[in-house]
Amino acid sequence: MKLFLDSANLEEIREVAGWGVLDGVTTNPSLCSKENVTFEDNIRAICALTPGPVSAECVSLRAEEIVVEARALAKIAPNIAVKIPVGLEGLKATKTLHGEGIAVNMTLVFSSGQALLAAKAGARFVSPFIGRLDDVSEDSMALIEEIVTIFENYGLETEVIVASVRHPRHVIEAALIGAHIATVPYAVMQKLVKHPLTDIGIERFLADWGKVKK
Ligand code: E4P
Repeated sequence: MKLFLDSANLEEIREVAGWGVLDGVTTNPSLCSKENVTFEDNIRAICALTPGPVSAECVSLRAEEIVVEARALAKIAPNIAVKIPVGLEGLKATKTLHGEGIAVNMTLVFSSGQALLAAKAGARFVSPFIGRLDDVSEDSMALIEEIVTIFENYGLETEVIVASVRHPRHVIEAALIGAHIATVPYAVMQKLVKHPLTDIGIERFLADWGKVKK
């Protein structure tokens, strides 16, 4: 399973890249608004640090304007994937951009129908938002299972990015289902590596090491 960091913060991205586990980065306007740097400069710097795709989101709503915005974003770096919200205008733009070889991450996906159409239009990635579905008492993991099964049934090459991840169990359940990618916030990435028994084990070994004859 590939792990992306869901962050627009350079320090976080540099840190996780240093762990050797970073396959890509996803940003969105809310994440970018937290950074005290211009959008384009920040995305360029993120692309330079990231050994894989970096999603940068389009904010235009009409297909022709989305395409213009996406082309400009794609020029920032070769590893840009343009993020486009799912919808009729987004699908039309995706068809055009796919034809031009620009990778599209179709975002704000909340149903398997949306994911199927996104894949057929040529999206390289689809991003179902599981945490936001959990918030409204929907079965988010059932959605991931449906999308993964549909893509497998028809050999669709679009990769599923499990997004809006809130805790480590989300990542594990997504991995068990066979989702290609989870995009994980920094705090959850840290929780994935921690276990209290590991900490207790290290403490005990160090204490006992002090008693070993040297
Ligand atoms: C994914 O690409 C989105 O940036 C992100 O996962 C949204 O998560 P949120 O629901 O925590 O805002």
